[in-house]
Amino acid sequence: MKFALYSDIHAQVPQLEAVQAAVDEENADKEIVVGDLIMLGPDPGAVVDNIRERRDCDVIVGNLDLWVVNKRWETHEPKSPHQAWMFEMAKQTRERMTEDQLHWLRLLPFSMTYMPEPGHEFLVFHGTPHEIGDESALPARLSDDEVRQQLDGATAEIMAHGHIHGPSVRNVGEQTIVCVAAVGMSWDGDPRPAYAVVEYLGDGRWNAEVKRVEFACEEQASYNENSWIEHGDRIAGMIRSGTFWNPSHMPH
Ligand SMILES: [Fe+2]
Repeated sequence: MKFALYSDIHAQVPQLEAVQAAVDEENADKEIVVGDLIMLGPDPGAVVDNIRERRDCDVIVGNLDLWVVNKRWETHEPKSPHQAWMFEMAKQTRERMTEDQLHWLRLLPFSMTYMPEPGHEFLVFHGTPHEIGDESALPARLSDDEVRQQLDGATAEIMAHGHIHGPSVRNVGEQTIVCVAAVGMSWDGDPRPAYAVVEYLGDGRWNAEVKRVEFACEEQASYNENSWIEHGDRIAGMIRSGTFWNPSHMPH
């Protein structure tokens, strides 16, 4: 059984279409979108409508999807000027979406488990198996022991997540952890959009691979720069460089 996974689209349509063109060539049995469809980009409604039309596609929710759905700006005080900017963007993102799109996002699950054969599990979540990504995550800098702490007893043979915007495949003991992110903008220094392919080969054997897609970013970077988003130049910079806009605010 073959899975194609991508995440952290962040309201960016052309990067999404570039990744989907590559995913379509994979002929996977199941496509999985691993959260953060919206925020950090100009076109949240168009991305939600796009994903809803995909066939054989499961979708789980990401932390920034829930910021918009749950109106985080009404329940949390911003902890920094960076967060104040994000809260304002969440509010304005919501104003650009329909009730129907918000309702669909609200019903998405936190995680999904696939079991192609009894006893052989593939677990998919956005941040960690136990937290969506606001408080904890699985960044590449963690040691194996720190990763085990974050997994906190999750027993799946293989797991996939998004959120940290730097794709990788990592073995921790007997378990494999795949970061599938990101479509919209990367923070690992490579501006190309990413996705991952996970395949169950039988008898407990899995294969996992991350892939990057060529993307001419300049047009979309200037589109973000000149969009409704306040400080759209920060988003544009991330699209162009594949790095976070301000190292002192790097989320993870
Ligand atoms: Fe996220």
